[in-house]
Amino acid sequence: MPVDILVGTQWGDEGKGKLIDVLTREIDMVVRFQGGNNAGHTVEIGDKKYVLHLVPSGVFRPNVSCVIGNGLVVDPVALQQEMQALAERGLDISVVELSDKAHLIFEYHKLADALKEEDLEVGRKIGTTKRGIGLAYADKAARTGIRAIQLTDPDELEVLFREQAEKYNELFADANSQLMDVEAEWRKVKAAAAFLAPHVKDTVLTVNRAIRAGKRILCEGAQGALLDIDHGTYPFVTSSNTTAGGACTGAGIAPKHIGRVWGVMKAYTTRVGEGPFPTELTDHSGEALRGVGREFGATTGRPRRCGWFDAVASRYSCMINGVDKLAMTKLDVLDGLSELKICTSYEINGQITADMPNDAKTLNVVNPIYESMPGWQCSTATARSYHELPGAARRYLERLAELVGAEIAIVSVGPKRDQTLTVQAI
Ligand code: GDP
Ligand code: IMO
Ligand code: MG
Repeated sequence: MPVDILVGTQWGDEGKGKLIDVLTREIDMVVRFQGGNNAGHTVEIGDKKYVLHLVPSGVFRPNVSCVIGNGLVVDPVALQQEMQALAERGLDISVVELSDKAHLIFEYHKLADALKEEDLEVGRKIGTTKRGIGLAYADKAARTGIRAIQLTDPDELEVLFREQAEKYNELFADANSQLMDVEAEWRKVKAAAAFLAPHVKDTVLTVNRAIRAGKRILCEGAQGALLDIDHGTYPFVTSSNTTAGGACTGAGIAPKHIGRVWGVMKAYTTRVGEGPFPTELTDHSGEALRGVGREFGATTGRPRRCGWFDAVASRYSCMINGVDKLAMTKLDVLDGLSELKICTSYEINGQITADMPNDAKTLNVVNPIYESMPGWQCSTATARSYHELPGAARRYLERLAELVGAEIAIVSVGPKRDQTLTVQAI
């Protein structure tokens, strides 16, 4: 059975958590493959709302195994808290496996993340989630990181942790910044290690055994393609490969096993944090989208910047991910608008292009060229089939799909499971 991948196609928060939850009806295993607790994936089931940061969004379905893959950076204290909170709400967390090769985030990474951001001048700040993501990936690349396997050997973990903590404290001292309390942090890490040790596994083996056994596997992306460290709006990106290719390295799955790629795409655009955003609406219409769409970060609570659908960026994203099927989300948020705009190309120094510029400086000054479509001005939230949607809504979605060059398989008209319309067989 080929392995499917689900990724965000914009700047994150497209509704990946909801879609993973919906799709896991037919799935045996969900594997996260990159990022860390910078992610905030919201799943609403009945009147209950859950926000997941590290645990895969398959955890709500009985008998679905949940793997936190080797490509992640994992804050052990945050993961312990998240798993305990889920257990307190009656969920079975024994299904969660943490890759022994995943790298660990400690308090010193978070402090260094915050310090780095403070030091950057306005215009160069990334607006990170301050979860220590970039610093932990930097340690991984520098080969000084500490991996989850060490959670099973507390004595060795303590030596490594103290060594790194001292090194970071020297940097904090040099910067006249507050030092980390090594003893207090070690106590938290030690407790988290004891809690997590039984979950630490060779997940590459787990996943490949499941592939051989014909299990249905879905890889859960975090962030969005435009935040990819290689292909996103560098340097205003996160520090991992958020695109579909990241699933192979981040989970230990050979490319030949990959089947379909799901692209989750919001019917408009949002971005949280700094960086270029050509179709951003900085006036009252952006505020209105934020209000109706409840666009506030699921991890940091920051207001998300909102704007029109950007078909240039989304087409690029579908290309680099090889999106086979689109799940269009948050259509209902546009219900009240009389006119909708779609950015179909950019004007750069008098030249029109439909290609995504590679550098943030250029993207900051592009002039988006729009086409307009009429709105439908009635509620779509109660529609339960694609054909129940107003004609103008269907025409809008079909135009987006045509522009980005992929097919719509699912339309989402609200956060709940039953607000999900299947357009074609999935
Ligand atoms: P993720 O990071 O991609 O999983 O997305 P987030 O959970 O950060 O943000 C998406 C938000 O939109 C969440 O609050 C979801 O509950 C909500 N949501 C998902 N799909 C829809 C939809 O079709 N309509 C509306 N109104 N909300 C949705
Ligand atoms: P989900 O999975 C939206 C953004 C941050 C910042 C940049 C780098 O919920 O879609 P980092 O802390 O990763 O070093 O910050 O990336 N960012 C996200 N934006 N959704 C996310 O995750 C994000 N994770 C990181 O706001 O601009
Ligand atoms: Mg999110």
